[in-house]
Amino acid sequence: MRKIVILTGAGISAESGLGTFRDAGGIWTKYPLEDVATPEGFARDPVLVHEFYNARRVQAAAAQPNAAHHALARLQRDWPGEVVIVTQNVDGLHEAGGASNVIHMHGTLAGALCAGCGHRWVAPETMDTTTPCPACTRPSARPDVVWFGEMPYYMDTIFDHLASADLFAAIGTSGQVYPAAGFVQEATASGARTIELNLEPSAVASNFDETRFGPASRVVPDWVSDMLGLRG
Ligand code: APR
Repeated sequence: MRKIVILTGAGISAESGLGTFRDAGGIWTKYPLEDVATPEGFARDPVLVHEFYNARRVQAAAAQPNAAHHALARLQRDWPGEVVIVTQNVDGLHEAGGASNVIHMHGTLAGALCAGCGHRWVAPETMDTTTPCPACTRPSARPDVVWFGEMPYYMDTIFDHLASADLFAAIGTSGQVYPAAGFVQEATASGARTIELNLEPSAVASNFDETRFGPASRVVPDWVSDMLGLRG
């Protein structure tokens, strides 16, 4: 079992104090996603969307990685094979926890994108409708995150990794948003073993060979210790 591909979702950052989306009291229960996570919502009310992402950028910058983030970094360091982390999260906590080469399929709060010329740069802590693009100088900055209706980033790379995975693990994701929710089928079709580590069964839990339920800060370090044979 040489190559491990890991998909993470909001649940891995929950114990770092960052909200999930679909749990009770989740982000989408406070902000209709149509208003703050679609191109149409941004066109309709860019001030609201900038305020939403500015608040999340400040919150994510103050958050600390938890034991689950650190455990995945340990797995990357100590596993005798490739460990690829693909995250749906935009919070940057995997890197803060020591992970490397993380694939951000939904972009990052730290990134800014020019809706005019496509230029990307490191976002200021707060952006608004006057933030100029450093390349074309137009006031057309937007968060460099993938909204509903937009194509996630790095999909070809991700499918290549799934095609060559020996083990696929999904951590802290509800399995309700595709294409990420379908990664377990891709991995299974490639002959990989699959495991879900989540607080509770996801919508696609039945597709996994193994499931472990509980808070990521406990379940993920335990799983990594098992993988590294350091148990006990
Ligand atoms: N430990 C482990 N899992 C947890 C924890 C925890 N402490 N707390 C919550 N969870 C689980 C929940 O049970 C749920 O299955 O994390 C999952 C979070 O699901 P969502 O809120 O749907 O988040 P996610 O799966 O990442 O959403 C996917 O949808 O809205 C878009 O772009 C957004 O990237 C996001 C995507």
